[in-house]
Amino acid sequence: MKKVKIGFIGCGFMGQCVHLPSFMRVKGAEVVALSDLRFGLAKAVAKRWGIPRVYRSHIELIEDEDIDAVVEITNKFVHAEIAIDSLKAGKHVFTEKPMATCSRDAEEMVRLAERENLKLMVGYMKRYDPGVLKAKEAFDDFIKHDKVTYARSHIFMGDWICGPTAEPMIETDEKYPEIEPRFPEFLPRELRDLMNTLLEQVHDINLPRYFLGDPVAVESVKRWPWGSIVILDYGDHPLILEVGSLSADFWDEELLIHFRDGWIDVRPPPPLLRNVPAKVHIYKAGKVQRDEYPHGAHSWSFERQAQHFVDCIIEDREPISNGADSYKDIAIIESIMKTAIKGTRTKIKI
Ligand SMILES: NC(=O)c1ccc[n+]([C@@H]2O[C@H](COP(=O)([O-])OP(=O)(O)OC[C@H]3O[C@@H](n4cnc5c(N)ncnc54)[C@H](O)[C@@H]3O)[C@@H](O)[C@H]2O)c1
Repeated sequence: MKKVKIGFIGCGFMGQCVHLPSFMRVKGAEVVALSDLRFGLAKAVAKRWGIPRVYRSHIELIEDEDIDAVVEITNKFVHAEIAIDSLKAGKHVFTEKPMATCSRDAEEMVRLAERENLKLMVGYMKRYDPGVLKAKEAFDDFIKHDKVTYARSHIFMGDWICGPTAEPMIETDEKYPEIEPRFPEFLPRELRDLMNTLLEQVHDINLPRYFLGDPVAVESVKRWPWGSIVILDYGDHPLILEVGSLSADFWDEELLIHFRDGWIDVRPPPPLLRNVPAKVHIYKAGKVQRDEYPHGAHSWSFERQAQHFVDCIIEDREPISNGADSYKDIAIIESIMKTAIKGTRTKIKI
């Protein structure tokens, strides 16, 4: 069968240490071209990985008719521009998170993917983590006979790399490209740092949505020197989003979902630690009290995510983290910013 030909855009840290190693191992695809605005870097990285064609810009790369799909691992402020150009050129698109930095751009990406009948997928690798999938099975079982009463999404981070990366990085002395920040027009300058943090930590809005679905409103936003607490209203329960930081040699992230009769606790691994799935603790109350610790298989969520993108193209399936679903995260972040501005509840329109 014909392989999916991939054009890879952006070979900085995540490109070299995470996504190239993942996409080079994927079945049914082949990386045939590479582009980075730092052309010397692109040439050196292409040589290391045996990638035949190197382009100076994404515009040159998407003119290559041999390319079926683009993988863009660049910078959040240019994700939308590159994705929109690529979709217009008839390429399927995988983009790192966040897909865009304002909902208008995200909406345009979704509209184009639908109009052109192309796959648009966002890099929410936690949805492909085998531990998370065990937790999801348990959740689907719980809600057959119980109700969610409370949920908490905690992200303080810590060490996300855990030692040297498996692929040492190539670096050049080329100047880093100048990139204009791009935020929604309504956002006051003094709230850019909060929006920036939420866009960076967007996993912790996306992962709860994988289980709970969509919130109906932003109830409140409170900022402290250590971080922020956002209360999202799910109608009959809240989701408390705790965003802070920690200097630690471990990774501090947790999704806790309470039911009337128990809970599911999911602790994702440090993102770059290969082959370690999320840890899951299920507590079941009732006549017999039980603790369960289901193990996900040892595999790397980034590599599983890359395989999913290629499989969805080959089998003409919608990706689990497709553009239409991922758009909602950006719309929710904009609603959080509106509550931060006015200090009152904001209904989420998605
Ligand atoms: N999934 C995760 O958990 C996770 C973790 C970290 C970073 N990320 C995301 O990965 C992306 C890349 O992060 P990084 O750490 O590799 O950044 P980086 O700055 O190290 O690399 C980005 C590369 O893109 C290139 N670039 C920038 N604009 C470009 C353009 N218009 N065309 C072509 N190349 C361009 C830069 O020259 C650079 O080499 C970011 O969007 C970030 O949000 C995701």
